[in-house]
Amino acid sequence: MSNPLNPGTLAAPAAELMEKFMDRIARVGVVGLGYVGLPFAVEKAKVGFRVLGFDRSPGRVAQVAAGDNYIGDVNDQELREVVLGQGLLEATGDWDRLPEMDVIVICVPTPLTRNLTPDLQYIQAVTEEVAKRLRPGQLISLESTTYPGTTQEVMKPLLEASGLRVGRDFYLAFSPERVDPGNKRYSTRNTNKVVGASDPVSREVALAFYRQTILHVVPVSSSQAAEMVKVFENTFRAVNIALVNELAMLCDRMDLDVWEVLDAAGTKPFGIMSFYPGPGVGGHCIPLDPHYLEWKAREFNFNTRFIALAGEINRRMPEFVMEKAMRLLSDHGRGLRTARVLVLGVAYKKDIADPRESPSAEILHLLAQRGAWVTYHDPLIPRFQEYGHDLESVPLTVKALDEADLVLILTDHSAVDYAFVVEHAHLLLDTRFATRGVPCDRQKVVLL
Ligand SMILES: NC(=O)c1ccc[n+]([C@@H]2O[C@H](COP(=O)([O-])OP(=O)(O)OC[C@H]3O[C@@H](n4cnc5c(N)ncnc54)[C@H](O)[C@@H]3O)[C@@H](O)[C@H]2O)c1
Repeated sequence: MSNPLNPGTLAAPAAELMEKFMDRIARVGVVGLGYVGLPFAVEKAKVGFRVLGFDRSPGRVAQVAAGDNYIGDVNDQELREVVLGQGLLEATGDWDRLPEMDVIVICVPTPLTRNLTPDLQYIQAVTEEVAKRLRPGQLISLESTTYPGTTQEVMKPLLEASGLRVGRDFYLAFSPERVDPGNKRYSTRNTNKVVGASDPVSREVALAFYRQTILHVVPVSSSQAAEMVKVFENTFRAVNIALVNELAMLCDRMDLDVWEVLDAAGTKPFGIMSFYPGPGVGGHCIPLDPHYLEWKAREFNFNTRFIALAGEINRRMPEFVMEKAMRLLSDHGRGLRTARVLVLGVAYKKDIADPRESPSAEILHLLAQRGAWVTYHDPLIPRFQEYGHDLESVPLTVKALDEADLVLILTDHSAVDYAFVVEHAHLLLDTRFATRGVPCDRQKVVLL
């Protein structure tokens, strides 16, 4: 990486902007008030910045403006305080307020198309709105996960069409969000933040901005490198989860307990990291992001074989869970066609209220398709609408457990009393080892 610039040698607009960051008088715009954008906006407001959130959803704008929280990782009280108490956080749908901002942070979705290719429509739409109103001296920072090259190849030309030049008139950076929803230990503030920009002035300006609220900022030499860091991190998880999922399927065939094997392997004090199998991967990141890299690699005539293989194995898991459920029922003299199955947990992971891309959706669908009568309980998701099904969470009662031929744990939420579940279920398939520590008969409580 090139040497950092001395702020004293920067041109006046960049130095002025950096001073505004240090004095906390810069106006911060956050576009996209979702899982990433809202916590970020609150964090900046908490340290004294005046923040304006932009969202195309009038409902979200109204909720933020009323101090009404809808994101699990945001503290209700803190949101109310920065909105209603201190008046430091506002929300709007009016793009014409963009020029008031000194920095514009973009946190909009980056989904895949039906053919598993990147869908950059949200980034493009927002960049076009910014470009129409771009003024000298602004920093634009993209936080959405995307393939290496997006900031330079997609955003920069759109922004420079304004006639302004990056690094001279305005600044452009990429800094991936690493938030782990539901993680009580690591929040936006204490999670190291990677920052990359492809010209040295933009990089220094972006570093100065992020250093105001993040404890440790990690500069890299270009926006492409920062984009690659983020897709690599998620690919690393996807590949390792696939490895343990494959091991789980092999252990099932060999009649070995994969959890026992992984627990024992995890006692090695070096050279191993713990990953756990499960019913498949979900959320906005792991199932999607590696495909962004896979797609970009093709431009370089390169096949990312690990990504393809991991995707194949992880996507196979819902079917494996359905087959194992069918086998278990059959061992107990029941056919899936006439069985009542109670699913515990439809969120894609523990202790969050997010059902996006959850493997539970496919498993519920596969079971229903084969004639099973399926209900679910999730303390965090009262209604679940996927694959044309529209279900409401049933209360977790003795009656609900007793009536089920099979209880199927798909998400290991902490709020569920697993001893109670084990006591009243007739047959249980636990894909998360949520019953760890609960004394039980392993004929009745079967692990993935
Ligand atoms: N959720 C996570 O755990 C997580 C973690 C790290 C990175 N990311 C990445 O961050 C990005 C955002 O993810 P998210 O989970 O916050 O998404 P989200 O769906 O929760 O929020 C996105 C917000 O953007 C708004 N929006 C969409 N298009 C817009 C437009 N044209 N103009 C203004 N607002 C618009 C939506 O209304 C929504 O409020 C994605 O690239 C994702 O991959 C997500």
